[in-house]
Amino acid sequence: MSLTIDVLTLFPRMLDGFLAESILGKGIAAGHLAVKVHDLRNWAVDKHRTADDRPFGGGAGMVMKPEPVFSAIEQVQTPGCRRIYLTPDGTPFTSAIARELSQQQHLVLLSGHYEGIDQRIRDRLIDQELSIGDYVLTNGTLAAAVVIDALARFIPGVLGEEKSLTHESFTSKLLDFPQYTRPAEFRGMSVPEVLLSGNHAEIEKWRYARQLEKTRQVRPDLLK
Ligand SMILES: C[S@@+](CC[C@H](N)C(=O)[O-])C[C@H]1O[C@@H](n2cnc3c(N)ncnc32)[C@H](O)[C@@H]1O
Repeated sequence: MSLTIDVLTLFPRMLDGFLAESILGKGIAAGHLAVKVHDLRNWAVDKHRTADDRPFGGGAGMVMKPEPVFSAIEQVQTPGCRRIYLTPDGTPFTSAIARELSQQQHLVLLSGHYEGIDQRIRDRLIDQELSIGDYVLTNGTLAAAVVIDALARFIPGVLGEEKSLTHESFTSKLLDFPQYTRPAEFRGMSVPEVLLSGNHAEIEKWRYARQLEKTRQVRPDLLK
């Protein structure tokens, strides 16, 4: 059975282009995954469709109210689904988490806005909290998009060539090697000779050496 993802956000239109384009758009069209985007304001109860209010205890900004989010999650959730809140104070999102999520049947991704969401939503309804990096976005819709994009690549059939996953950064704990394409000579810059040699063993050796070099330079923590 394929994966279904429900996204709950105050900005559903932010995902329009993202879900229609490129590899993800094709994966959805082919039925490898289904993504439903919901406007949280549809669950607001007052005539102004209010989704936020001032924080108890004072302080700057606004906080997303519990009622619309509780109603939305209670409506879209299914038994055994994973309810995820995107938040900068969540667990760092990694390739391993993306792979694990791709094997689920139903995900609910909650995007916050303003100063965040009422803590009672997190306490009662959220199974997992994920951060896409040590910076703060204005809302979680792009974070949800990042999670969807990264996990979709692990769903069989989404990437045309399954083997393009095997050589990638983070798949092997090493960053990727440099890639070149035609022309072999461009503005005085040549493609490394070995790649034109046709000697596959030598090419593999060269690529592995470049992976080690790059990882040592940029992400030595991955080698530990
Ligand atoms: C302005 S942020 C709230 C930040 C919150 N006051 C804090 O300092 O942790 C608004 C929303 O953007 C989303 N967001 C911001 N940065 C994020 C990140 N690095 N990863 C995932 N979601 C993020 C969350 O959904 C959050 O509720």
